[in-house]
Amino acid sequence: MPATLFCSRRLPEAALTLAQGRATVTMAPEDRHLAPAELARHLATAEGLVCLLTDTVDDTLLAAAPRLRVIANVAVGFNNVDVAAATRRGVVVTNTPGVLTETTADFTWALLLAAARRVAEADAFTRAGQFKEWGLLLLLGGDVFGKTLGILGLGRIGLAVARRAHGFGMRILYHDAIRDPRAERELGVIYQDKDTVLREADFVTLHLPLLSETRHYIGGPELRAMKRTAYLVNAARGPIVDEAALVHALQEGWIAGAGLDVYEDEPRVHPGLLACRNAVLAPHIASASVETRHLMARIAVQNALAVLEGRRPANPVNPEVLERLSRPASAR
Ligand code: DGY
Repeated sequence: MPATLFCSRRLPEAALTLAQGRATVTMAPEDRHLAPAELARHLATAEGLVCLLTDTVDDTLLAAAPRLRVIANVAVGFNNVDVAAATRRGVVVTNTPGVLTETTADFTWALLLAAARRVAEADAFTRAGQFKEWGLLLLLGGDVFGKTLGILGLGRIGLAVARRAHGFGMRILYHDAIRDPRAERELGVIYQDKDTVLREADFVTLHLPLLSETRHYIGGPELRAMKRTAYLVNAARGPIVDEAALVHALQEGWIAGAGLDVYEDEPRVHPGLLACRNAVLAPHIASASVETRHLMARIAVQNALAVLEGRRPANPVNPEVLERLSRPASAR
């Protein structure tokens, strides 16, 4: 009998096709966010779950899903899943790393450039019919070329952002829990402590995972440490930045501006941010290219099928579960 796979939201056809004849796929009748109780009902008999970062998969939900063997998150981030609880219950968790690196790095740059050169404001100005004549001092922004970029979190996406900075002739500083001598050699990135990066960078971009240690990694003191002419870009996870402090910083001119794709309490955006003209705001779309989102869905389905078919998935987040499952039942 084919295994049962529940998808919490509609997926592209090409991703679903992969499961044909290999799993019985079900989906909620409507493509909308499912409340925890609804999700639990759908998971009562499912062996696999393909879900999005908007689905909270916690221990309560897992307790209501006794047959679940795999949670395939269609995202590189997996802070929506209680991985420790899944591991305890022998459920494999997978994500979609790698495939969205370049797309997310592109969008980080889109935000950086848009914030520095006031693209959103300029667009609104032009549409409002306010472009009456060329102005020497009209909508002046900050230069990007030749400035200093400060990367906090030099993982895959941070590295891809650094590579692009060479085209802008930038000096590149970084801070990460783990130093990367190879990147220092090959990309010329310079390791500094967090404070130095914040103090010296003209643009600070965040590429950290959301963990208890990175929650509010950027708060009031960090924003005050930045240059008044600097910009903050966050396309990682909202809670990495203390949003209330950021609103303050933008209103009071502690920094020049921000480019944000993510928020502390999505989809809610802090009203203070909505009122800040020096913030460019996007609705969590950094990986949203047709190619990348389709690929992410395919990879998630492949990961789920692999576990359901007793193979090792390409992207396990908790490989210890696979190791445990590979042992004889008496030794698990
Ligand atoms: C992720 O994958 O974690 C992004 O936030 C959405 O692509």
